[in-house]
Amino acid sequence: MTRLIDLEIDALRALETGLTEELALQSGNRMKLDLTRGKPARDQLDLSSPMDDVLAGNYIAADGTDSRNYGGLRGLPEARALGADLLGIDSQSVICWGNSSLTLMYLVADTAQRLGLWGDHRRWNLSASPKMLAPVPGYDRHFGVSDALGIELIGVPMTDQGPHMDHVEALVSKDPDIKGIWCVPKYSNPTGCIYADEVVARMARLAALAAADDFVVFWDNAYAVHDFEFPRAPLAPILELAREAGTEDHVTLFTSTSKITYAGGGLGFMAASERVLANMEARLSVFSIGPDKVSQLRHARFLSGRLEAHMAGHAALIQPKFDLVEEALTSELAGLEIASWTTPKGGYFVSLDTRPGLATRVAELAREAGLSLTPPGSTFPGGIDPEDRNLRIAPTFASLDDLRVAMQLLVLCVKLASVRDELAARA
Ligand SMILES: Cc1ncc(COP(=O)(O)O)c(C=O)c1O
Repeated sequence: MTRLIDLEIDALRALETGLTEELALQSGNRMKLDLTRGKPARDQLDLSSPMDDVLAGNYIAADGTDSRNYGGLRGLPEARALGADLLGIDSQSVICWGNSSLTLMYLVADTAQRLGLWGDHRRWNLSASPKMLAPVPGYDRHFGVSDALGIELIGVPMTDQGPHMDHVEALVSKDPDIKGIWCVPKYSNPTGCIYADEVVARMARLAALAAADDFVVFWDNAYAVHDFEFPRAPLAPILELAREAGTEDHVTLFTSTSKITYAGGGLGFMAASERVLANMEARLSVFSIGPDKVSQLRHARFLSGRLEAHMAGHAALIQPKFDLVEEALTSELAGLEIASWTTPKGGYFVSLDTRPGLATRVAELAREAGLSLTPPGSTFPGGIDPEDRNLRIAPTFASLDDLRVAMQLLVLCVKLASVRDELAARA
């Protein structure tokens, strides 16, 4: 395939005509296709259906707790052990509460902002304009938490090894208003990268060189065990590294079983130093007399000793979808050199970069043809991608057949927008 920039003008015009006709033809199918939903498909949810029968009337946890009753704000020991396994830490450092890690992230950020995480004078809202760093492209709901709390976001560039740490350190060490950073360290949303050991080590030490004395790393390890190949890819242990660096009060970890069992009926986990956990427990106790420990027990028993086998079941359903995405992008776009994309080995997303200025146009063309894409810009703070080039592809929810048609449409839209862009540039 010839690179687009090497095509003669006549060839470009002919290509534009051909692609326009093809898109009109495909749009005629009037299918409703959707690549926006980072949700498990039904067959993935079905993998956990046997969990519903696992208690079989036995509600008593290993420590004798009747899971049906109030209490146990930090969670059942076996549920905390599950969270510890997911996060690769000790279970004493884990709280299992609620069904969503996002809720816990909001609660930690809100506590840091208004009350402080450490039981002393420090709180973010003593600063006139608290800020957080957001590696971009990143997860829009993280941005939503900061926005809701009035915390300004500063985008920092991502590399394929994680956030650009020289950049991060330079900002954090100079500005005492910078209070935290959002991280998705494994199979990052949306690029799918895994933070390199060096990045994790520098992230663990970040609070020590921060100008703020109340800096917090938000370590959202949502895709900790969501590998396509096993044994699972390793991630350096940030809490251990933070303990060595004396920064353990400034690292908070999160995960959940939302994409392991049921996205709407799973378990949320957070982990931190004892000082932070004690403060969070006190905060939780204001509005909760205890989490749903029946769900905790069910999860712990269902996944005990078979977590990897269970995740292999997910991988068997998801990987063909990611392979299909990769195949469509490579076969249709690679030679033209008009886009770049990631090829993750786990997680839920593929990140696609068009030529600068074309993401919105591609999404419009796709919408006209019946394909919904995550709104361009949503992977950036304020919903604005300064280069208007990033698109997030979420392949899990669609069936393989729908995904195939959706990807055909998507590559067609990328090609057409790029050809028109090239023609405009040469006009
Ligand atoms: C990076 C990341 N964190 C958190 C979540 C949501 O997690 P939960 O369901 O535990 O709130 C998602 C969901 O897509 C995600 O991609």
